[in-house]
Order: sequence, then structure tokens, then C-alpha cells
Amino acid sequence: MSPKPVRKAVIPAAGLGTRFLPFSKAVPKEMLPVVDQPVIQYVVEEAVDAGIEDILIVTSRYKKSIEDHFDRLLEIEKQLADKGKEAEAEQIRSIAELAQLHFVRQGQPLGLGHAIGMARNHIGDEPFLVLLGDDIMHPEAGVVKGMIEAYQEHACSVVALMEVPKQDISSYGCAAVSEVSDRLVEVSELVEKPAPEVAPSNLAIMGRYLFTPTIFEEIAQTKPGVGGEIQITDAMSSLLGREKMLGYTFAEGRFDTGKKIDYLRAVVELALERDDLGDEFRSILGTIAKREGLT
Ligand code: UTP
Repeated sequence: MSPKPVRKAVIPAAGLGTRFLPFSKAVPKEMLPVVDQPVIQYVVEEAVDAGIEDILIVTSRYKKSIEDHFDRLLEIEKQLADKGKEAEAEQIRSIAELAQLHFVRQGQPLGLGHAIGMARNHIGDEPFLVLLGDDIMHPEAGVVKGMIEAYQEHACSVVALMEVPKQDISSYGCAAVSEVSDRLVEVSELVEKPAPEVAPSNLAIMGRYLFTPTIFEEIAQTKPGVGGEIQITDAMSSLLGREKMLGYTFAEGRFDTGKKIDYLRAVVELALERDDLGDEFRSILGTIAKREGLT
């Protein structure tokens, strides 16, 4: 019997965003603009491109602008249409029609595991994707598509993994693995934010997960871990005792926009790829690079 199709995704976006203060005092970091789109719109589009039809975004009291962004904006749509700017009006309208979007609030930011646990009733008994709301993946990296293919073949949870320098592993969930095929590895152990000396590898979990619904049972049993938060890595560790788990490895294309330096990289890289801005921006960057003695 072939496994159930992956139709649903969860986007946790209820964290405090303390690394992006003071900006994130009043505006969610998931609403940071990358050129002219908020980060979370890239994330929703990535899910839709991978064939997802139903998306649940986990928000909070402080993040109402995320819901507003994916709602209709009739006044502006009408004004644009009245001025003959039909393409622009359609662009604004289409954001509300990207997928069936749902929202649930996490009353307290108790951790990523807790945020994902908020999706239990909505997801029911189906496999589902998790895409972190502050992580952009370049479409060419094809990470979630590859993860869905792996799920279809192996019918088990799949997590995105990328090699990082050993000294950086303490910022991530870390996986011990054995090789399965070119891109796939089997996960044998997971540790949240290990010290480099004790880390079982330099493969880090990178913001994309595909879970069987069994993960909800494990999240419900998970106690607060590193940082006092209910960590998804801990729930995944328990899941490993019950089910096989694969890692989908990739090398580039990820921007952790919740981190200032990676946000800047995302803006530059994605602006350079734009048909309407790329050439002019490239020339500006060239001038700056010369002035800074970089070329
Ligand atoms: P992060 O750890 O990057 O987010 O979580 P954070 O806690 O907001 O960040 P800092 O460390 O304070 O700067 C990754 C994703 O999970 C969501 C965040 O919104 C982010 O998109 N998250 C995190 C939740 O939805 N709930 C939580 O309790 C924690």
C-alpha cells in the first residue's frame, strides 16, 4: 500500500524573535521584507510549489499582521483595478488564494515542539510538513520536494540536514546518521544544541521536517529541555525509538532570516535574482565592493 499523500503543512511563527530586536518588538520577524515580500510569504510559496494545499500557521497575540498579510485587501485591489493596474491588483489578490490558510495561536512561546503540537487536531492522522516561518529555502534547492519523494518511497519521517562547521553545531539540532543513498541518510540519534566536543556529527537540522502523525504522541510526552523550551528535537529523539527516520541532505540555498547576518545575505541574493531590480542592484553592489576594496 502506498503511503498517504502529504497535503498539509504547518508553519510555526509564534516565537519571540529576540535575535532581531529591536525590530521584532512590534513587527514579527517573519514579516521582515526580503525585497518586497515578507519572509513568511516565501515560506508559504515554497510549500505550495511542493504541492501542499492546506497550511496552518502558528501565530500569537503579537503577530496579527501575519494573518492580515494573507487576507484580501479590497480597497487597494479596487484602487489598483480602477487605475487599470490589473496585474498589480491580481498580485495582491493572489496572496490570499495561495492555499487554504488556517491560523492557530500559541498562547505562550513554550518552544518549537509545543508550537508544532498546536497543529494536532488540524493535521489529524496524516503525514505533514513543517517549514519554519523565518527560514527561506531557495526554490532551486528543491528541499521539501526531495523530502516528499523520500517519504513516498520510505513512508517514514524525514528531516532536512546540512553540514555546518563543527564549532557552529551547538546552535542546532544535530543528527548521527548512516548513509542510505546519494542524498538520504538514516538518522540513529538526535541531540539538541550539543557542545562541539560531544556532537555526534556536523549535520545540523535545517528548518524543514516531514512527520508522520506519531510525532504528536511524542510531543505530548516531551518535557521542557534546552532553554526550558519543549524542543522538537527531543520529541524526534523519542520518535526514533518507535519509527525509522531519514535525513535529506543538502548543501546550500537556506537563509535563516531570524539571524541578522543571514537576513542580509537573503536580501542581497534574492534581490540579485530579480528581473526588475537585479541588474541595477548588481551595479550598485559592484560600486560598493570597489569602494570597500573587495574587488
Ligand atoms: P527560533 O528559535 O528561530 O525562533 O524558532 P525564536 O524563538 O522566535 O527566536 P529567537 O531565538 O528569540 O530570536 C524557529 C521558528 O519557530 C517559531 C518561530 O517563530 C520561528 O519561526 N517558534 C519558536 C514558535 O512558533 N513557537 C515557539 O515557542 C518557538
